[in-house]
Amino acid sequence: MTSHGKFRSSSGKGSRRSSVKKIVTDPKERQRLVENILKPFILEDSVYDKVCDVMLDNFNKGLGKDTNADARVKMFPTYVRSVPNGTEEGNFLALDLGGTNFRVLLINLNGQEVDMESKIYLIPQHIMLGTGVQLFDHIADCIYKFMKEHKLENKKLPLGFTFSFPCKQLGLAEAHLTTWTKGFKCEGVEGKDIVTLLHDAIKRKGDMHVECLAVINDTVGALMSCAHSDRQCGIGLILGTGTNACYIERLENVELWDADYEEPKQVIINTEWGALGDNGDLDFLITEYDKHVDKHSINAGKQIYEKMISGMYMGEIVRLVLEKLRKNGLLFNGKGSEELSTRGRFYTKYVSEIESDVDESDFKSTKQVFDELNLTDYTDQDCRIALHVCSLVSKRAAYLASAGIATLLNKMERKDVSVAVDGSLYRFHPHFHDLMVEKIQKLIKPGLRFKLMLSHDGSGKGAALVAAVANRLKEEALQKNSED
Ligand code: GLC
Repeated sequence: MTSHGKFRSSSGKGSRRSSVKKIVTDPKERQRLVENILKPFILEDSVYDKVCDVMLDNFNKGLGKDTNADARVKMFPTYVRSVPNGTEEGNFLALDLGGTNFRVLLINLNGQEVDMESKIYLIPQHIMLGTGVQLFDHIADCIYKFMKEHKLENKKLPLGFTFSFPCKQLGLAEAHLTTWTKGFKCEGVEGKDIVTLLHDAIKRKGDMHVECLAVINDTVGALMSCAHSDRQCGIGLILGTGTNACYIERLENVELWDADYEEPKQVIINTEWGALGDNGDLDFLITEYDKHVDKHSINAGKQIYEKMISGMYMGEIVRLVLEKLRKNGLLFNGKGSEELSTRGRFYTKYVSEIESDVDESDFKSTKQVFDELNLTDYTDQDCRIALHVCSLVSKRAAYLASAGIATLLNKMERKDVSVAVDGSLYRFHPHFHDLMVEKIQKLIKPGLRFKLMLSHDGSGKGAALVAAVANRLKEEALQKNSED
């Protein structure tokens, strides 16, 4: 797993032992004080019920004509109306931007068979925080290199773009970025159409015959990719650098729907649920650590729910708790390290690694993480406490995400729904799946059934599938025009 969430600055260094209170040696007293500090992460069932209520209220506000303007959870209609039927075919390019990496993919669809070749390109920090022109020129450069390497220079290829940020779509191939999330902040892109920016950059680069036919969110990619083989699939969920979900909604519930009402009378809604809580709706459960993470992020006040759940932030929450315990004389004999006091240096992958230590007697992974962080003064009891911190923070994240999924399942009221899940957090955390299954089960209405399925490479395959459908429609329209 790549390391998520490198924050940009480091916090005050060098205060390693000076600020430490008395070291607590009595085991019982130590346990009592540790539990006290960790209490805010242990939430009663009623708190998760309340999260479901708040989530539903926010979903409805986002869907409502008169309430959408002020809604934080935007519930964007995606213009993706039908799931694939397995007859899609041809060669497609796909782009995947929005996680830890940028990828270009070449995908061959042939019924149920899907062949993919892909290459990862790095987006350097200065581009993530630079201008939109720089970002899209870089993307065009990468496409160019990829096409050259795959001897596709003179081919005319349709392209699907998985762009995993909140976009107001005006059609399948028109998507205006509303606000950057996660680690991106490129000037001059918010409010603009992503497809125009991409096409302009491709034109500037010259010598490429690429047309972007569809922009999709990664949640939609996950859903489409699973739906290709599982007709019950109705929800796409990402638990990676960020978190978000999409689902299939009946058109009659989408008050802002402005296109046709032809069959199928449904559309995929990109909820952008990461923004839940941006108006204070989650203040009843927010901790001092969540506030700290938010305050020091590049989008303070935004994506509050996302910051309690996803991979970009989870490691940092754990780090803050460990630091608090240390400063209270409850960990590492009060001695930290420059690494442990550096913002963003405790990666979310460490949480997964520490929690994979099932055999308490050796704590192999936990000790390895401590060594990587240059911590020298630790005992098995410190390992036990660190494991406990990680498991409470990740359990809260899994339960919060479960509240979101349960709300969607309850709202959809379909008897059987498969949820397509992707993202590094879900993929690599040893217990996230089980924690979610257990909690969702508790929160859904009796009689509803669900499955959480790992979606493989939805961002690539999903974009190709949507582009394939768009391409077919385009060719049918051209054919019709020439016949008229
Ligand atoms: C952020 C983005 C959203 C994306 C999610 C997962 O929440 O705003 O569009 O789906 O991250 O990548």
